[in-house]
Amino acid sequence: MLTDKVAVVTGSSRGIGFEIAKEFAARGATVIVCSRKTASAEKSASMIKGKAYPEKLDVRDAAGVTRFMRHVIERHGRVDILVNTAGYPFDHKLWIKRLHKVAEGEFDKVIQVDLKGTLRLCRSSLPYMIKRGGGVIINISSTPATSGHTEGAPYTVAKAGVIAITKHIALEYGDKNVRAYTLALGNISSEATFSSMTVTERKKAAMENSMKRWGDPREVARVAASVASDDFSFATGNTIVIDGGTVLL
Ligand SMILES: NC(=O)c1ccc[n+]([C@@H]2O[C@H](COP(=O)([O-])OP(=O)(O)OC[C@H]3O[C@@H](n4cnc5c(N)ncnc54)[C@H](OP(=O)(O)O)[C@@H]3O)[C@@H](O)[C@H]2O)c1
Repeated sequence: MLTDKVAVVTGSSRGIGFEIAKEFAARGATVIVCSRKTASAEKSASMIKGKAYPEKLDVRDAAGVTRFMRHVIERHGRVDILVNTAGYPFDHKLWIKRLHKVAEGEFDKVIQVDLKGTLRLCRSSLPYMIKRGGGVIINISSTPATSGHTEGAPYTVAKAGVIAITKHIALEYGDKNVRAYTLALGNISSEATFSSMTVTERKKAAMENSMKRWGDPREVARVAASVASDDFSFATGNTIVIDGGTVLL
């Protein structure tokens, strides 16, 4: 159970982040539902049973992230769990570009959200977690970050950096009772992925793993809720692959 925990879930207006926020609330947590648009955060929070509070958050805005975290602390007293789900919107053209064709600005766009956004939220929450005697940080990555990929390098690079952030937090703050995890995801059926593909593309993607199917966002949410709970009290720094058996560490 996550009773009495305060959890910030970035990128929780839809997709995987929304399901994580929903699962956490179902397990008793107070959840901060985030979007770049107030209306989207409000709509998503209203669809969650339990204690769900909408907040506007753009992870690219460093000063805004600091203000956001201060506001969460003022309003809810603490932050026990942080889940960094916010990801640069799926961009098919960028996803299929070879490394040498990607412009520096295109790298920056993805890095600003997936890597630096994650870094900003971690850095802004850590002092509060340390002060309260601990916390849990879950960073959402992707299997290309562990195994490499052809094309879509900005995404791979950003998500590999996310794994490094997790490891630093685990090693630097373990003695402060702060635990950190990376969830490295395979094909998970969100609107950004599954819904944007043709039937042929969907079938091909399903065939990539040993279970021969797409993952459901709720399957990711249940793993996130488990690692956030005390059941994982003596495990930290891990990369947990959720991909139906493709990448085996
Ligand atoms: N689906 C997959 O197969 C898959 C596989 C591997 C990894 N992942 C990772 O899992 C995460 C969620 O994926 P998804 O498929 O659920 O994506 P999604 O449906 O596109 O959701 C992305 C979320 O990120 C938020 N976001 C985007 N830019 C933001 C910014 N600058 N500041 C704050 N929030 C921002 C969006 O909120 P607003 O637009 O409302 O602001 C939205 O809630 C991403 O990090 C993605 O890279 C997904």
